[in-house]
Amino acid sequence: MRIFKVGILGAGIISRTYLADIKAFYKNLEVIACADINVELAQKLASEFDVKKAYTTEELLKDDEVEIVINLTPPQFHVDLARQIILAGKHLFSEKPFAPNLETAKVLLDLAEENGVKVGCAPDTFLASGLQSVRYYLDMNFIGTPFFVTANMTTFGVETWHPNPAAFYKKNSGPLFDMGVYYLSAIVSLLGPIESICAFSAKPSDTRHIYVGRDAGTEIEAEVPTHYSSILRLESGVVVNLNVSFDIYKSNLPMFEIYGDGGTLTYPDPNFGGGTPKVYRKEQYTDTVYQQSDEALARKDKFYELPELYPRVKDYSRGIGVLDLAKAIETNSENRANGNLIQHITEAIEGMLISAESSAIYKMTTTCDRPEPIKPGGYIDEV
Ligand SMILES: NC(=O)c1ccc[n+]([C@@H]2O[C@H](COP(=O)([O-])OP(=O)(O)OC[C@H]3O[C@@H](n4cnc5c(N)ncnc54)[C@H](O)[C@@H]3O)[C@@H](O)[C@H]2O)c1
Repeated sequence: MRIFKVGILGAGIISRTYLADIKAFYKNLEVIACADINVELAQKLASEFDVKKAYTTEELLKDDEVEIVINLTPPQFHVDLARQIILAGKHLFSEKPFAPNLETAKVLLDLAEENGVKVGCAPDTFLASGLQSVRYYLDMNFIGTPFFVTANMTTFGVETWHPNPAAFYKKNSGPLFDMGVYYLSAIVSLLGPIESICAFSAKPSDTRHIYVGRDAGTEIEAEVPTHYSSILRLESGVVVNLNVSFDIYKSNLPMFEIYGDGGTLTYPDPNFGGGTPKVYRKEQYTDTVYQQSDEALARKDKFYELPELYPRVKDYSRGIGVLDLAKAIETNSENRANGNLIQHITEAIEGMLISAESSAIYKMTTTCDRPEPIKPGGYIDEV
């Protein structure tokens, strides 16, 4: 595979993770430029990571050397900047969310097709070692036929650590757009598309206290609900209970557990690329009917760790989706976090919002295929 020249747009918190990981692990991606609305921030990022160019968005878009732009600006700028990137003839990898609703996502994806460029979007954590291993074990029937999933994203928002937290509580933002996407991408990539959604929301407080950054000590308004509880039914018939919250300090709920007719598969957290899956097989449960040995009784209480079958880059890493996009450009094929997946996940978020507002079941209009699994046993940069 040849080396692709990449430009980063938005020199904030997550740009450092992208740059560090691309430099360390993905030799076919070369970040040659950093841009930001505040050029000083772009310059600082470029000098930290030894990137040769630092300039404005306009200069990035005019730079013929840049083939792929990674858009790492705050969510409210994603659509307008995506439009500009696509119209400049550059392939786009967008941080999440891609768009606030299905209609806008479709407009951008059509524009990309008209302009002959490819589009990819985070989350790409489903391509990393942990969730790809889960996929392998599911496909190998380790828990038989899945019928139920519980997925619980429980945090207390971002205002205790993020320097610009206000954006997370505005319209077209909130826990579903910020964190729900990781869980939805994991569910769809592992178990297939969603058929219908029933969701309810809550907002325990109308204001949020800011703890860090420029506005520390002040209160901001939460414009959107900050807690969602939902039941999804997948096209396969699997039922999913998905809870996504910015209001829970601590929880004992499992973050991600899949139940099948042959056992249970549990995974630490779909927000992370690395993570060891664990399995509980039905035989562990039924054995004690036949024999009451200490060994059988001990096995009855225990989940067993399964190996990760892929090199683990880091627990929290970024960049594999960009590599997958580059490979798709080179081979003229579909990247895994592609338009169909993007619009399905975007519609799922919109469907949860609509269902929560209307107290009605939302029927999905889009569908998608499960992305191709990555072959186990490859090197760190093989997708
Ligand atoms: N922070 C995280 O841990 C994290 C993790 C995963 C994904 N993300 C996603 O990454 C994106 C960026 O998040 P962040 O936390 O790095 O944000 P940030 O606020 O730290 O940085 C955003 C940067 O974009 C620049 N910017 C703002 N408007 C711009 C514009 N119109 N044109 C060019 N540059 C502009 C800002 O100056 C800033 O440097 C968001 O979509 C977020 O959802 C963040």
